[in-house]
Amino acid sequence: MSLEAIKFDRSKTRLDVLDQLLIPYQTKYIQVSNIDDGYSVIQKMQVRGAPAIAIVGAFSITCELHSVKDGQKNTHGYNVSNLPVFKAALERRIDNLVKSRPTAVNLINACTAVKAIVETACTIDDLYAEVLRYSVVLFEDDLKNNYRIGDNGVRYIDNELSEFEGPFAVMTICNTGSLATSGHGTALGIIRSLWAKSKANPNNADDKTIQGQKSWLSHVYACETRPYNQGSRLTSYELNFEKIPFSLITDNMPAYLIDSLFSQRVNCPLPSRAPVKFIIVGADRIVTNGDLANKIGTFQLALIASQYEGVKFIGAAPTTTIDYTRDSGDDIVIEQRPANELTSILGGQVDSSDQFVTDSEGKVNLLRVKTATPNIDVWNPAFDVTPNRLIDSIVTEQDYVVKDSHGKFNL
Ligand code: MRU
Repeated sequence: MSLEAIKFDRSKTRLDVLDQLLIPYQTKYIQVSNIDDGYSVIQKMQVRGAPAIAIVGAFSITCELHSVKDGQKNTHGYNVSNLPVFKAALERRIDNLVKSRPTAVNLINACTAVKAIVETACTIDDLYAEVLRYSVVLFEDDLKNNYRIGDNGVRYIDNELSEFEGPFAVMTICNTGSLATSGHGTALGIIRSLWAKSKANPNNADDKTIQGQKSWLSHVYACETRPYNQGSRLTSYELNFEKIPFSLITDNMPAYLIDSLFSQRVNCPLPSRAPVKFIIVGADRIVTNGDLANKIGTFQLALIASQYEGVKFIGAAPTTTIDYTRDSGDDIVIEQRPANELTSILGGQVDSSDQFVTDSEGKVNLLRVKTATPNIDVWNPAFDVTPNRLIDSIVTEQDYVVKDSHGKFNL
């Protein structure tokens, strides 16, 4: 099993992407050799998460340029003897790549940056070298920035908890971890950083050497995240891998769970008694006023948080996810996904004794199981927009931002 979503071998200009549709049942990497392959893995959601999509998009252009430069493959109708004609054809292919998934801004930003390189390059060799350099920096910076997001998120949380003593829990949705980024993660990065600090708390774990922490993370709630189940497939996989205590819940449980913890409801057995103090989510696009597009279900979590004085709602993302060209969330295009994602579930193939069926190589085959009445109308938006008024803090690699005295985010 692997937590590495993207493998790029610079010496061979080779890109391999972890097929996240198969996680957690199988670890299989798919080679991405050109822009068409990049489009395919992004559109089919074999790679997902705003930063990861952008990195794979940029590397897929790099790989295509590498094969064109070396004259290995020239199947895309490129005329390499005429640089302006070649550039125009490449730009058309990059424009098409952007259409693979419309909501996350990171892919569009990366493709726009690559197109700026295309415009100024004087030879195909130079163009390849510059796009390679850009893609590697995008990949490496994402990891560094995620650690900074983790640190800044912990600072915000420490500040909020200055009056609080004891264990606390957090809740998250979708996957925002190593699999959605080049490592560590954004919202899940904050949770990882919190756990790294909390597990040193004498009340929490084995290490009794660090004393004096008043509050500590003791439990994580991961929402299942229908219809694609990023929570149950990916986030729970990452939390389990890291041995962070957590419970998986369905997307319709958060209100009852949070309320039960707050009112210490005794007739409801709970996995932990620690109250949920923070709901921490990632973002696919944050616009200038702080409105935040993220996985469908995020908005309702923010509404729940707003009903409880002690629950803060945090959006975590690198600054590459901020879209300064749009003023409000109304301007964000929300991707609509196919109906069969709601009328069926993609899972591991099971036999009558509920065991996974494996093939001769020991691999699990996936099965799409129908769960709805045939031929019905379906509404399947992949994302929603949480209005800024429901967000308490936006954490980036630069800092954490809270609203000013006029209730506005200055991003
Ligand atoms: O449809 P997905 O799986 O690509 O959606 C992913 C999310 O909504 C994530 O929360 C978001 O991209 C942030 S990833 C660090």
